[in-house]
Amino acid sequence: MAEETFQIVIDGQTVEARPGETVLEVCRRAGKDIPTLCHHQALEPYAACRVCLVEVSANGKEGLVPSCQYPASQGLVVQTDSPTVQRTRRLVLELLLARAPASDVVRALAAKYGVTQTPYPTDDPNEKCIVCGLCVRVCEEVLRIAAVGFSSRGVDRRVGAPFDEASDVCIGCGACVAVCPTGHVASIDDGPLRRMSTWKTDLDLANCEACGRPFAPVRHLEHIRPTLPPHVPLERLCPACRRAQTVARISQTAAMAEALISGDPRIGIGAERIDRR
Ligand code: SF4
Ligand code: FES
Repeated sequence: MAEETFQIVIDGQTVEARPGETVLEVCRRAGKDIPTLCHHQALEPYAACRVCLVEVSANGKEGLVPSCQYPASQGLVVQTDSPTVQRTRRLVLELLLARAPASDVVRALAAKYGVTQTPYPTDDPNEKCIVCGLCVRVCEEVLRIAAVGFSSRGVDRRVGAPFDEASDVCIGCGACVAVCPTGHVASIDDGPLRRMSTWKTDLDLANCEACGRPFAPVRHLEHIRPTLPPHVPLERLCPACRRAQTVARISQTAAMAEALISGDPRIGIGAERIDRR
């Protein structure tokens, strides 16, 4: 059965929306350029950064809402670039610039909207974190590990491993690096170790059984073991050797198929086919 849609108006244009969609999703489908930082498809909206604010009006009420979290509803009227949105977005970007002045992503986003300086005080000129919580939530809600969390409150709020010491549960999977929108979370493979430098945590890497190179944290492999069906062996090869092995297998299969088709007598089944002719 076709899903029931409804209509909303975005910047004067009527757009179809589907139940459950957020204003951001509908706006993006309509080609609107709305900035986001704390939004990630793998996680529920949290509306921490506020750069995605838009103006909405419905049933005689209007106001600014975070589009990444606000649900689209029949008849909603949305403005993505009104003077109020532009003014508020710049204010939000000034605050983010004060919070994370060392983040290239924040600086570039702010510059895109004409913000190159901030009137607000900066605590740490080397700070890159906007405390959006994506790293904390991906670790807790997706991986169910909770190696990192929040500490302190208000302007002193920070993310890190408990007591700001090396984590004894971090598996070094790199999900936090992947979701961090500002480039604050960093990791590097350094010889036999994966260094999750932001969390002050080093993990031993397992070596590839084919080429001998270190390729994945031992703790990460141990973590995924229970999630694999019993007949699936734990990965022992690095991505490069895995690819090489797959290519070799495909070439071998292709060569066999070719030999079968051409009736190569070295292939048993092909020989039978020739005999039958
Ligand atoms: S480290 Fe990155 S993902 Fe984590 S709270 Fe800071 S900005 Fe967000
Ligand atoms: S992207 Fe919507 S509040 Fe951050």
